[in-house]
Amino acid sequence: TLSTFLFALLAYLLGSIPSGLIIGKLFFNTDVRQYGSKNIGATNTYRVLGMKAALPVFLCDAAKGMAGVAIFSPEPNLMLLGGILAMVGHNWSVFLGFKGGRGVATGLGVLIYLVPVISAICFATWAVIVYFTKYVSLGSIIGAALVPILMIVFGEPFWYIIFGTVAALFVILRHRENILRLLRGKELKVERTERDDS
Ligand code: G3P
Repeated sequence: TLSTFLFALLAYLLGSIPSGLIIGKLFFNTDVRQYGSKNIGATNTYRVLGMKAALPVFLCDAAKGMAGVAIFSPEPNLMLLGGILAMVGHNWSVFLGFKGGRGVATGLGVLIYLVPVISAICFATWAVIVYFTKYVSLGSIIGAALVPILMIVFGEPFWYIIFGTVAALFVILRHRENILRLLRGKELKVERTERDDS
């Protein structure tokens, strides 16, 4: 129906809002795309601007995922669609010429709303990997791969498993360059980068 289409568009547009870019430019006069991994997510925002910028970016990006699901509540299959569209918006933003982020925080927001226990397990796994390796990308890739597996283990409905598989593929495929850097031992750790823009 028309209202489904409009809500779907809204989920995509919300997901498209590049919070890392907006917060960096508005409050720190910095385009995070010029530094570090050049990514717009909370990880690279932390590298470039620190936690006071990264935390709001993480919360905004997660909120976009929650919002994409929430606008379709309580229709389970449409909620999955809203979540995927928020992730698509974040990864291929209409405001950034269809470029964007990796969909980790936004995907986590979707999971928190849909499957809180699974989201907590994935987040805890991510946190342990990041703590010990300092490679956020590695935590994100493994955390994402866990999503469909845990959905099967917890006996979630068929479409949840399909959603979890697609969402995990989105996240992992967006980490293509990170995977190549990890294999070459050239991946950037999560630590503050020096900037030569003084
Ligand atoms: O969420 C993105 C993270 O997994 C990697 O970010 O900036 O290190 O490519 P980055």
